Amino acid sequence: MTKKYSITLLPGDGIGPEIMAVSVKVLKAVAQQCDIEFEFQEALIGGSAIDATGTPLPQETIDKCKASDAVLLAAIGGYKWDNLPREIRPETGLLGIRSALGLFANLRPATILPQLIDASSLKKEVVEGVDIMVVRELTGGIYFGKPKGIFTTETGEKRGVNTMAYTESEIDRIARVAFETAQKRQKRLCSVDKANVLDVSQLWRDRVIKISEEYPDVELTHMYVDNAAMQLVRNPKQFDTIVTGNLFGDILSDAAAMLTGSIGMLPSASLGSQNPGLFEPVHGSAPDIAGEDKANPLAQVLSTAMMLRYGLNEPTPGDKIEKAVLKVLDLGYRTGDIMSEGCKGVGCQAMGDALLSVL
Ligand code: NAD
Ligand code: IPM
Ligand code: MN
Repeated sequence: MTKKYSITLLPGDGIGPEIMAVSVKVLKAVAQQCDIEFEFQEALIGGSAIDATGTPLPQETIDKCKASDAVLLAAIGGYKWDNLPREIRPETGLLGIRSALGLFANLRPATILPQLIDASSLKKEVVEGVDIMVVRELTGGIYFGKPKGIFTTETGEKRGVNTMAYTESEIDRIARVAFETAQKRQKRLCSVDKANVLDVSQLWRDRVIKISEEYPDVELTHMYVDNAAMQLVRNPKQFDTIVTGNLFGDILSDAAAMLTGSIGMLPSASLGSQNPGLFEPVHGSAPDIAGEDKANPLAQVLSTAMMLRYGLNEPTPGDKIEKAVLKVLDLGYRTGDIMSEGCKGVGCQAMGDALLSVL
């Protein structure tokens, strides 16, 4: 029997619509092969939502996302909206949808594909075989802690404030996701914090240690975030699964992305417990190349594979998509960000066509 899924598409801004168009074509192609039917509906988020409705996250978008089986997001943001007040900036829409759907766990895999070793800015020996999963907490920490804002002090000076805060239950649930993720991998989990300085990190470390008692088969280590940033570029192969808070995870996952050659290759899955998951590339809206058909669509395409696997429990079409990505790379197709000597330079759309032809 044909299985039917309803997918909300949030193309967003910048290169978003370009990479989303490729992903939808790829999804339609695998659907046909796997006896699946997708019903797609688009919704507004970010700058395009601000332009159309005055807000970066219309209620209608939240409702559509909640009513679907999975949400596929491209990227939001751009120069045009950079000077708006924070409440109506595109980024606030993205944080809002993560929060509205309770998506507290963000899985960001960084896997080196042998085909792209030369595209990494690091030496081949350093990156060959790297396979890291960053589990980033996504709905707490300094992104959401209160108080926050720009206040005026008694002396009339302005003071900007954000608060890094985690409750025990917020730490426990992300720790469990991380231990369970590590159990399915090499059973090594490194928790990254700043417990030598921050109280919030001390609680983080204490709770992660407590939760580790439930997972005796996973080897737990701890690392300070400054050292982790250094170790990621010094010897990334030491890491299997990393768990960390919202801000540290944001920064470390961009660093991990570069090990793989380009941030244009990195997908992610944002998961909660009550609502559909949201699947999005790690990169942003790349306003510097938007509208020029230069974007690498593969992070977005690989995010659809994560959607099939983690969001819809459909590993077979997910595998097909991942294999198609490897195949086009084997055939030598490269967008500008991953170009190396002797390869065929293509734009975003042509990369999509290449994927369709191997599918
Ligand atoms: P960015 O990730 O958009 O771009 C950083 C650099 O990487 C740019 O040079 C860009 O051209 C390149 N790049 C990114 N994705 C690429 C792709 N698929 N193919 C080829 N090159 C790619 O980060 P930024 O410049 O710091 O931010 C731009 C805007 O995106 C900002 O408004 C920011 O807030 C937003 N942003 C959104 C998300 C998201 O929607 N999840 C994530 C990060 C940044
Ligand atoms: C990301 C982005 C977002 C974040 C921004 C755009 C709100 O950098 O998804 O990594 O900081 O989470
Ligand atoms: Mn980021």
